[in-house]
Amino acid sequence: MQCSWKAVILLALASIAIQYTAIRTLTSKPFQLCPVPSPQNCGLLGGSETESPIEGRAGCDDYPYFSFNASRKTHIMVLATTRSGSSFVGQLLNQHADIFYLFEPLYHVQTTLIPRLSHSRNAADRRVMLGASRDLLRSLYGCDLYFLESYIKPAPANHTTDKLFRRGASRALCSLPVCDAFGPTDANVEEGDCVKKCASLNMTLAADACREKRHVAIKVVRVPEIGDLRALVEDPRLNIKVIQLVRDPRGILSSRIETFRDTYRLWRIWRATGRRPYNLDLSQLTVVCEDFLGSVSTGLSHPHWLKGKYMLVRYEDLSRNPLLKTMEIYDFLGLPMDKSVEEWIQTNTRGSTELSAKHKYGTVRDSAANAESWRLKLSYDMVEYTQATCHKVLHQLGYKAVKSAEELKNMSLSLVQDKTFVPFS
Ligand SMILES: *[C@@H]1O[C@H](CO)[C@@H](O)[C@H](O)[C@H]1NC(C)=O
Ligand SMILES: *[C@@H]1O[C@H](CO)[C@@H](O)[C@H](O)[C@H]1NC(C)=O
Ligand SMILES: *[C@@H]1O[C@H](CO)[C@@H](O)[C@H](O)[C@H]1NC(C)=O
Ligand SMILES: *[C@@H]1O[C@H](CO)[C@@H](O)[C@H](O)[C@H]1NC(C)=O
Repeated sequence: MQCSWKAVILLALASIAIQYTAIRTLTSKPFQLCPVPSPQNCGLLGGSETESPIEGRAGCDDYPYFSFNASRKTHIMVLATTRSGSSFVGQLLNQHADIFYLFEPLYHVQTTLIPRLSHSRNAADRRVMLGASRDLLRSLYGCDLYFLESYIKPAPANHTTDKLFRRGASRALCSLPVCDAFGPTDANVEEGDCVKKCASLNMTLAADACREKRHVAIKVVRVPEIGDLRALVEDPRLNIKVIQLVRDPRGILSSRIETFRDTYRLWRIWRATGRRPYNLDLSQLTVVCEDFLGSVSTGLSHPHWLKGKYMLVRYEDLSRNPLLKTMEIYDFLGLPMDKSVEEWIQTNTRGSTELSAKHKYGTVRDSAANAESWRLKLSYDMVEYTQATCHKVLHQLGYKAVKSAEELKNMSLSLVQDKTFVPFS
C-alpha cells in the first residue's frame, strides 16, 4: 500500500504522545500548558493573582518574561506614600545610566479601578487594587509596557499614547531613541520640556528602551503594606529589592495640606481657626499611620521572604546627608553608583542656590532644615493630635514627640533621633 509508511510514522507519533501523556500524568509536578507566564497562569509561580479585573488579555506570546536574561536584572521598588520624598529617591535611581525608571505606574490602575477614592479603606476595593497592581508590576519589571495600556485612558492607539502619567519624570522616556527632541548631550531634560517637546510615547520603543537597560526601578505609593507584596517578592522570575521610604507623619501631613489643597481643606481651616472642624476626615491621618505601622513592623521583623531584599530609609536621614545615604542605597542594591547620580545630588541639594527657583526639587535643598520645616507650619494642637494618633509609629521610627509649642518651634532641637536601620542582609 502506497501510504503505509506514513501510517507507520503516524502510529509511532501517536504512541509517543500517549507515553508522554502517561509520564506527565505520573509526575507529581504541576504541568504548565503555557511555557511563558501570562497573567492567567502566573499564579502558579507567584501566588494567586486572580483578582485583576482587566478583560481581554492577549495570549502567552505577549508576556516575554523568559525571552531575555532576567537573572541579571535587579528589580528595584521604592515603596512609599505620597509626600514622603519618594520623587527625590526616584530621581536618585532615574539618574543612573543602567536603570530604567517609571514614576508611579499604579496611578493608572487606581484611576481606572477606583476613580472615586484616593485612600480607600474599603477592603474589597483594596483587594482589587492590589491584585491588579501586582500583575501590572510583574509585567512592567519584565518590560512589558503593553500591559499598562489596558489602564490608560483614553486607550492608546497603535501602541502610542500621550497620557502616560508623569512620563517626563523618566529619563529613558525623554531621550533617544524613545524621544528624538533632544540630543544625546542634553543631560537633564526638565519634566515639562519633555512633555512639551517629545512626540507621543511609542510604547514599543519604550519597552525596547527598558530591555536595553540592565535594571528596572519603579516608584510605588499605592501599595499600603509591604506584606501585600510578598507574592511579588517571592516570585522566582523577579529579583526584587524594596527600598521602603518613611517620613515623620507630621511632616507628611503638613506637606499634604500644602499640596492637596482641596482634599485637605478642613485641615487648613483647623490651622487657620485653631478649631478642629467636626467633620474633619481623620482617616486622612490614621491611614498613613496604620499603614506605616503595619508595613514597617513587617519589614523590621525581618521575615525570611525579605532576606536580602529590604532596606528602610528615613527621608530625614536622606535629607541630612544625601550623598552618604545614596551610597548606602546603592550598596544595598549591589550596584555601583554612577557619576551622574552624584552630580544630580550636587545640583539638587546643597550648593548652586541660584538654581533653586528653577528646580523642582528645591524643597530638598538645605534639606536638613527643610525636612523639619513642618514644625513652623502646623499648629501645636494639630501636632499634639497627630502625635496621639500616631504615637506607636513615631516611636518605632525614632521621631520625638514635643510637649509644648515652644519645643515645637525651637528648631535648634531636632525631633529626629539618631537611629540606624541596617538593610536586612
Ligand atoms: C544571564 O546573565 C548572567 C550574568 O550576566 C549569566 O551568568 C547567565 O549565564 C545568563 N543566563 C543565561 C540563560 O543566558
Ligand atoms: C493606526 O495605524 C493604522 C495603520 O498604520 C492607521 O490606519 C490608523 O489610522 C492608526 N490609528 C490611529 C488612531 O492613529
Ligand atoms: C513605534 O516604534 C516601532 C519600533 O520602532 C515602529 O515599528 C512603529 O511603527 C512605531 N509606531 C508608531 C505609531 O509610530
Ligand atoms: C531651644 O532649645 C535649646 C536646646 O535645648 C535651648 O538651649 C534653648 O534655650 C531653646 N530656646 C528657646 C527659645 O527655648
